Amino acid sequence: MTTIGIIGAGNIGSQVARKAVESGYDVVISNSRGPETLADLVAELGPKATAGTSVQAAEAADIAVVTVPLKALGDVPVEPLAGKIVIDTNNYYFERDGHILALDEGTTTVSGMLQAHLPTSRVAKGFNHIMATDITEDSFPAGDPKRRALATSSDFADASDFVAKLYDEFGFDTVNIGPLSDSWRVERDRPAYVIRQNMSELVANLAKAPRTV
Ligand SMILES: NC(=O)c1ccc[n+]([C@@H]2O[C@H](COP(=O)([O-])OP(=O)(O)OC[C@H]3O[C@@H](n4cnc5c(N)ncnc54)[C@H](OP(=O)(O)O)[C@@H]3O)[C@@H](O)[C@H]2O)c1
Repeated sequence: MTTIGIIGAGNIGSQVARKAVESGYDVVISNSRGPETLADLVAELGPKATAGTSVQAAEAADIAVVTVPLKALGDVPVEPLAGKIVIDTNNYYFERDGHILALDEGTTTVSGMLQAHLPTSRVAKGFNHIMATDITEDSFPAGDPKRRALATSSDFADASDFVAKLYDEFGFDTVNIGPLSDSWRVERDRPAYVIRQNMSELVANLAKAPRTV
């Protein structure tokens, strides 16, 4: 069975954990305050979920999800994630994260920063442009006309392919943007950011995104 190790147990981490368990994955989830503070969430998730430290979640992961505020990126453990696919949900909020010049000037991307922090992992963008509650409340089976599309992006085909598989299992279609250098198209304040859209609408919104906002 595949274990998803989740670093961050807030709005998005807890929702991804719910859908992952529902989809048959084992989950190890972590936060900054320690596993004992996740007892209620783990009880809700049931026997397929356990809580750990960030290092334990990273070590246990076949696939990892990093879903902490961007300002905490430097705390994400590197060595235990080596060789692994790492899904990055992060967005840049200068109000929360402080100003990051390379993002303000458009010379890097949010997920490019995580890839630089994890040079031996295969980072793929995922779940960054959907409200956390919608992950469990606005998903539909393949072929349903109400089904939403979500974007992914990676420098590694197997990583973006895995995000597409996970989206499908969770109840969403996928649009693959391509390499992380283009992943700014789905970052904050672009047309595709946190709106309800199907696949063709998402393709159109990605195409008209400005490089800087
Ligand atoms: N909220 C949304 O709807 C949404 C949608 C798409 C993308 N995003 C993005 O996804 C990321 C996570 O958002 P969120 O809303 O889930 O955040 P959140 O509710 O604030 O949760 C953040 C989680 O990260 C943990 N954390 C913080 N610093 C850490 C560290 N140094 N080491 C380990 N864990 C740490 C926190 O642990 P403690 O609670 O113990 O401090 C908490 O479990 C952000 O970049 C956000 O912009 C959010």
